[in-house]
Amino acid sequence: MCLYPKMLNVVRKTLFTSLSKVGGEGGTILKALVTGAAGFIGSHLSEYLIEKGLRVVGIDSFMDYYPRSIKETNIAGMSSDEHFEFIEGSLLDVDLSKLLDGVDVVFHQAAQAGVRASWGQSFKIYTDNNILATQMLLEACKESPVEKFVYASSSSVYGDTRDLPMRESSLPYPVSPYGVSKLAAEHLCCLYYRNFGIPTVSLRYFTVYGARQRPDMAFHRFLRWALEGSALEVYGDGRQSRDFTHVDDIVEANWLALEKGLPGEVFNVGGGSRVTLNEVIEMMKAMVDQELEVHYEGVQKGDVRHTFADITKAENKLGYKPKMSIQDGLQREYEWIQSLVK
Ligand SMILES: NC(=O)c1ccc[n+]([C@@H]2O[C@H](COP(=O)([O-])OP(=O)(O)OC[C@H]3O[C@@H](n4cnc5c(N)ncnc54)[C@H](O)[C@@H]3O)[C@@H](O)[C@H]2O)c1
Repeated sequence: MCLYPKMLNVVRKTLFTSLSKVGGEGGTILKALVTGAAGFIGSHLSEYLIEKGLRVVGIDSFMDYYPRSIKETNIAGMSSDEHFEFIEGSLLDVDLSKLLDGVDVVFHQAAQAGVRASWGQSFKIYTDNNILATQMLLEACKESPVEKFVYASSSSVYGDTRDLPMRESSLPYPVSPYGVSKLAAEHLCCLYYRNFGIPTVSLRYFTVYGARQRPDMAFHRFLRWALEGSALEVYGDGRQSRDFTHVDDIVEANWLALEKGLPGEVFNVGGGSRVTLNEVIEMMKAMVDQELEVHYEGVQKGDVRHTFADITKAENKLGYKPKMSIQDGLQREYEWIQSLVK
């Protein structure tokens, strides 16, 4: 938490005025910048904001971590929407003051994702796209003030703690270079709030799933293998647990952060569904109605044993309440994967 109390009332007042403009008769429509708009979460968020009556400028550099064609499909449904403008480019290269022209709110989702790929020489990709790009965007916001800057942080900032559930007040101790990069960018958000009044709110997402989930993520891989009749490869013994959060709940949390998030604050956004990977596999067996062969592989460096979010703060201050049960959310992702595999 990095509050700077003198600023709060001013920022809250201006935000309130702006939000009242959304969809209002004859009023200006709020314009949002969504970075990483072609990605898994960014594409869902962009659609949601358009539905809420905002104009969205999305930017994405189509990082090659997974195929471009998947990202193009993610934004295909919005491409002809007059409220959506898409810019292909990197935050590291584009003219950020031009990008921020007329923008009221920023949802900064762009990042190089992936814990396991963040070791070794690839770390530069993480420092550039996760840390430097965030700093450059925050710097640009000094000259082009925005009403709110919502940052997509991560549960990976906590590391392998035994102090569960994870609370925002716990000491962050990331165990992967990716986690270090997400924490560094979160700290930058706090710094730019404290020093320059940029109204940042950081949301620490816990393992996000649902339609369009990245192909490197466990649910996506498992469900695809199950449908293809291949054995499931599980890192570790499968008894590691995650607080899985459906993408609809993540998107809702972003909206609540815009509406109610006090600048300088950090919030856990968990799904209230802490289950082990073995339990998930049991659910998948029932879903596909067949036995699944499972191969257990070595634990990957950077993977944590458990994640479990204490969401009391988000509940109390944002009114956040996860709605999607793991069974329903998994079923939805399964149906989406079915549409890809057939
Ligand atoms: N998916 C999860 O479980 C999860 C959990 C915690 C945090 N997060 C965070 O949420 C955000 C979205 O994650 P996701 O799973 O949707 O990943 P994603 O890879 O699907 O989306 C991120 C997008 O950002 C784009 N991008 C990266 N660097 C960029 C740059 N410099 N300029 C413009 N675009 C750039 C990529 O091309 C990609 O399309 C990330 O910040 C990630 O760290 C995700």
